[in-house]
Amino acid sequence: MGSGQWHVEKRSTLRNDSFLKEYAPVSETGSLAIIVLGASGDLAKKKTFPALFNLYHQGFLNPDEVHIFGYARTKISDEDLRDRIRGYLVDEKNASEKAEALSKFLQLIKYVSGPYDSEEGFKRLDKAISEHEISKKVSEGSSRRLFYLALPPSVYPPVCKMIKEWCTNKSDLGGWTRIVVEKPFGKDLESAEQLSSQIGKLFDEQQIYRIDHYLGKELVQNMLVLRFANRFFLPLWNRDNIDNVQIVFREDFGTEGRGGYFDEYGIIRDIIQNHLLQASVLCLVAMEKPISLKPEHIRDEKVKVLQSVIPIKDEEVVLGQYEGYKDDPTVPNDSNTPTFATTILRIDNERWEGVPFILKAGKAMSSKKADIRIQFKDVPGDIFKCMYLEQIEPFSHTKYMYRYQKNCWSKLSCNATGQKQGRNEFVIRLQPSEAMYMKLTVKQPGLEMQTVQSELDLSYKQRYQGVSIPEAYERLILDTIKGDQQHFVRRDELKAAWEIFTPLLHRIEKGEVKSIPYKAGSRGPAEADQLLKKAGYLQT
Ligand code: NDP
Ligand code: BG6
Repeated sequence: MGSGQWHVEKRSTLRNDSFLKEYAPVSETGSLAIIVLGASGDLAKKKTFPALFNLYHQGFLNPDEVHIFGYARTKISDEDLRDRIRGYLVDEKNASEKAEALSKFLQLIKYVSGPYDSEEGFKRLDKAISEHEISKKVSEGSSRRLFYLALPPSVYPPVCKMIKEWCTNKSDLGGWTRIVVEKPFGKDLESAEQLSSQIGKLFDEQQIYRIDHYLGKELVQNMLVLRFANRFFLPLWNRDNIDNVQIVFREDFGTEGRGGYFDEYGIIRDIIQNHLLQASVLCLVAMEKPISLKPEHIRDEKVKVLQSVIPIKDEEVVLGQYEGYKDDPTVPNDSNTPTFATTILRIDNERWEGVPFILKAGKAMSSKKADIRIQFKDVPGDIFKCMYLEQIEPFSHTKYMYRYQKNCWSKLSCNATGQKQGRNEFVIRLQPSEAMYMKLTVKQPGLEMQTVQSELDLSYKQRYQGVSIPEAYERLILDTIKGDQQHFVRRDELKAAWEIFTPLLHRIEKGEVKSIPYKAGSRGPAEADQLLKKAGYLQT
């Protein structure tokens, strides 16, 4: 064996040893109690129970170990809860195929009713969990208790206190107690910090899972791989090559019965501060390479990005409110709450100085989608630059450029402003229809030298036919059971995110930044498009 080969083998052995220690999943057995607090609510029936059922159906929840508890104030029976959620667990298409699993899953659910701020209900809940643990022979394994707070944040502190006092796992049995909390985690920096410190006094950071379901979306999870496992992105991913980054969320429906909640929060707190910025999208686009894939190393890098964002200027913000929003009786007539916002963030570090990160989100827009658009700078010394413009097709919108070089005219297609058509743009479509595509300028096939914008397209439905993409909540709940905090928001991340938006949010509340009306079903206020243009974004 040559020495070179020995080194390779030796290295890989060493790596495998430490790799196994660090990353091998800890196999845990024993009872697993999943407790959904707020089980009577909207999130529980639409997202939490369906995600649990899908995990169960796919074999990720062992029926010999798991039991599911619903807890809320509403006085209903186990059977009532089962009836309420049944219709959300399967659809007509797959009902018969999943009928057996559904019936077994529903039998695992028990409901306990009680208040959120006094011990009686929680004592009963603990008793029910303990009975389950005994029935599942917990003495042969560990006692794992996962509390999912599908509740308004106002009740997080009393609920956490009650869990801590009455319902944590019994330490002599081993295992763990974990708490999952939903957004919105606070309303501004002060309230978020207060909430963090209230819960922080009761549970360690390793026990708290702040969920942001955008972190569970397939293409958000793909970002790390995309950025750090592909050589051709590495040298391009910086201010020298990227002109602007746009992160867009749109919904083609309004607040739909959630007006009361929404008016208190608005689009910045509902979508931008968390889904688009905080844990998820912007951080993953802008962060440096983490030292390793350990959750703490990844989250360290995200925090650094957030801490490098400079204060938002009012002139780089456009707010909107769709016409008809105030028709909801729970929304005050003088509401200035934005249902649309475009805001530019600037990251003051070596990689990103000067590159605008445009975050845009809106309700009641013309379409439903979420994507990331990385727009590259124009090619320097562009030999395809147009020198002469002639419109040869008066009845179509197409104009053609003619380029004169080396005694020869050649035709190039171009947009109406007379610039060369297109810029390179890399688009990551989170939803609907997950896809990644790279916009390129290529020669139009044919005899003429005409350029045209085309795409290298990786559409998931075509490329991964038959592969079903898991729901974000499924993935994240499974992570909480495994104890993987990578895709959850750490306390310092949350603080840094609120630091960015709190001053602007307070100015909006004082009426210093106004929401411009826009038509439901439109692109939002025209001012937002003007801001985009000013920031350098070019429609390709
Ligand atoms: P709900 O308004 O449906 O509330 C959930 C349950 O909490 C209710 O069934 C009710 O149960 C109890 N509850 C409601 N209001 C109060 C109150 N003022 N004081 C005490 N208990 C109350 O909320 P959702 O299910 O829609 O949302 C739960 C959490 O998840 C929230 O933090 C929300 O922001 C977040 N979220 C929701 C999403 C959704 O799609 N719905 C999406 C993303 C996050 P009972 O009266 O029986 O005790
Ligand atoms: C929630 C917001 O967090 O995300 C809602 O509160 C929004 O207002 C929803 O509709 C969007 O989630 P998704 O996964 O459907 O894009």
